[in-house]
Amino acid sequence: MNAEKTTPATKGPLVYRQSIWTRLTHWSWVICLFFLLFSGLQIFNAHPTLYIGQQSGFEFDNAILDIRAINTPEGPRGQTTVFGQTFDTTGVLGMSGSAVRPDFVAFPGAVTIPSFRDLATGRVVHFFFGWIFVGTMFVWFVASVLNGHIERDIIPKKGDWRGLPGDIWNHLRFRIQHGRRYSPLQKLTYFIVFVVLFPAIILTGLCMSPGMNAGFPWLLDLFGGRQTARTIHFIAMALLVLFFVVHVIMVVVSGPLNNLRSMITGRYRTSPGTPMQEKDKP
Ligand code: HEM
Repeated sequence: MNAEKTTPATKGPLVYRQSIWTRLTHWSWVICLFFLLFSGLQIFNAHPTLYIGQQSGFEFDNAILDIRAINTPEGPRGQTTVFGQTFDTTGVLGMSGSAVRPDFVAFPGAVTIPSFRDLATGRVVHFFFGWIFVGTMFVWFVASVLNGHIERDIIPKKGDWRGLPGDIWNHLRFRIQHGRRYSPLQKLTYFIVFVVLFPAIILTGLCMSPGMNAGFPWLLDLFGGRQTARTIHFIAMALLVLFFVVHVIMVVVSGPLNNLRSMITGRYRTSPGTPMQEKDKP
């Protein structure tokens, strides 16, 4: 049977878009990042201040973020200071919970693992999923070099840079073309995730480990000391959360079932007009 004749005119060919390695590693780091985020916020709550520089303490004035509860004549309030600007964040940051039983923590129990104060468990969960995440990235990297995924889909080429402004404009208007491969904006975004955010969060995480400091002291120098490394770790986390929010919005806007199918079975329905290739035929 001729596949071209049986494909409805309103649909393009069903293509094999995601390899088994891309799919397995994707869902593995979704699980890992979920536990890493919430256990990380538990660890942050133990000392909810971030600094730039080699050191921290009362004699230094190098804090860039501070979340705390303060006493005021009207009673306790939650307060967040970012780059010297102070905001009242009562109910969300610094002080949360009910009026009868307020909770004086930086991030509320709703977004920490465990939901109550337990630094030791938070660290165990964080390190466990941290190492699974590192292993997953290693598997993704080796498989993606061998099957050409990095070269083909992740590294932006000349044509991608040329097509980028038009693709950004299309995304802003939610006019998404379902091609055989990632669009220029997708490539650039995933490139930043794989080449900047994931390595930054892993390396700064290693910087905060005393064992690593003994073995690889140059890592600390690379990131400007332990306190700066901790701040970069936090910023990379915040950027990944931002990526996640936009990523899921785009998955929903551009056809959730088609997208999910491609990340589960590998098969992706392209837009009408996408040229048929020999391997698309059933
Ligand atoms: C921590 C959260 C997540 C991160 C860091 C993340 C990251 C990524 C990255 C880097 C890619 C490209 C993978 C590659 O080409 O090797 C990707 C693709 C994809 N992700 Fe996620 N993802 C996350 C959560 C999700 C969730 C919750 C969904 C589903 C609702 C989802 C659906 C997809 C789909 C459908 C693709 C393929 C896009 C396409 O083929 O155009 N992701 N994701």
